[in-house]
Amino acid sequence: MFAAGGGTMDWGLQGKVAFVTGGGSGIARAVAMALGEAGIAVGVADMRLPSAESVAAEIESNGGKALAVEVNVTNSDQVNDAVARVEAGLGPIDYLANVAGFAKFVPFLEITDEAWHDLIHVHLNGAFFSSRAVLPGMISRGFGGIVTVSSLHAQIGQPRAVHYSAAKAGLMGFTRGLAKEVAGNGIRVNAVAPGPIDTPGWRSGMVTGGNMEEIMEGRSQVIPMGRMGAPEEIADVFMYLFSPSSSYVTGQIISINGGEVMY
Ligand SMILES: NC(=O)c1ccc[n+]([C@@H]2O[C@H](COP(=O)([O-])OP(=O)(O)OC[C@H]3O[C@@H](n4cnc5c(N)ncnc54)[C@H](O)[C@@H]3O)[C@@H](O)[C@H]2O)c1
Repeated sequence: MFAAGGGTMDWGLQGKVAFVTGGGSGIARAVAMALGEAGIAVGVADMRLPSAESVAAEIESNGGKALAVEVNVTNSDQVNDAVARVEAGLGPIDYLANVAGFAKFVPFLEITDEAWHDLIHVHLNGAFFSSRAVLPGMISRGFGGIVTVSSLHAQIGQPRAVHYSAAKAGLMGFTRGLAKEVAGNGIRVNAVAPGPIDTPGWRSGMVTGGNMEEIMEGRSQVIPMGRMGAPEEIADVFMYLFSPSSSYVTGQIISINGGEVMY
C-alpha cells in the first residue's frame, strides 16, 4: 500500500555518529536504520530497552554500527548519561534526531494536569534536554545537525489533542530559535512536520477501536496523494536534512504529508 522510501543513495556521511531518541519504533526506528545504512554509527535511545536493542542488532546485522541505550527523555540526568554512554561507545555525536514521543486523543475539558504535563514534557522537554546534552560537543567541534519531529497537527490544529498540537507547535519555535542561535557554530537545526504515518504508535495511540484498514482508508481520503505515509519516507527527509545536500537549510519546518497542507 505504501510507496517505498529509504533509498540506498550515498549521503557521504560515513564515520559520523548519531543519537536517535525513540529509536526502538516507528519513525525513529526508520531514521536509525537509514543512518546505519549510510555508515553512521547510531545511538538507539529509547525508554523501552528491548526495542532499542533489537533495532541496534538489526543495524549491526546489516553491517552497520549501533549501541542501544535506555533513556526516558523527560529525565535530564538520564539523557545526559545516555549521551555520555553513546559518546564513550561510538564517538562524539554529530547528529541528533529528536523523535521520542506519543499522542493522546482527549476532549479538551478532560485533559488533566498530569496528561497536559506528560505531553508537553515528552515533546518539549525531551527535545530540550537532548539538544542541550549534545550541543556543547557540537559547538566545540564547529559541526552538527539536529532534526526534530513536529506534526501536521501543529499546523492545522487537532481537536481532542490540544495538548499534542501545542507541544508540537512549541517545537517549531524551538527549532527556529535554536537554529538562529547556533547557525554561526556550523550547526543546522531543522524539523519535519509529518501527516499520518503508519507506525505502531499511530495504530495503537492515535486511533480507538474499529477496523484498522477502514480507519486508514478513511484517513487517506482527505490526503491529496490518497494514502498515509511510511516511516521510511520521513527517514529520507531526515537524511537529506543531515546531509551536505541541505547545507544552506536551517530553521526550516519541512511538511511531509502527501499534500494535506501545502506550507
Ligand atoms: N505516526 C504519525 O502519524 C506521526 C505524525 C506526526 C508526528 N509523529 C511524531 O513522531 C514521533 C514518533 O512517533 P511514532 O508514530 O513513530 O511512534 P511509536 O510509538 O511507533 O515510536 C515512538 C518511540 O518513542 C519511544 N518513547 C516514547 N516516549 C519516550 C520517552 N519519554 N523517552 C524515550 N523514548 C520514548 C517509544 O518507546 C517508542 O519506541 C512522535 O514524536 C510523534 O508524535 C508521528
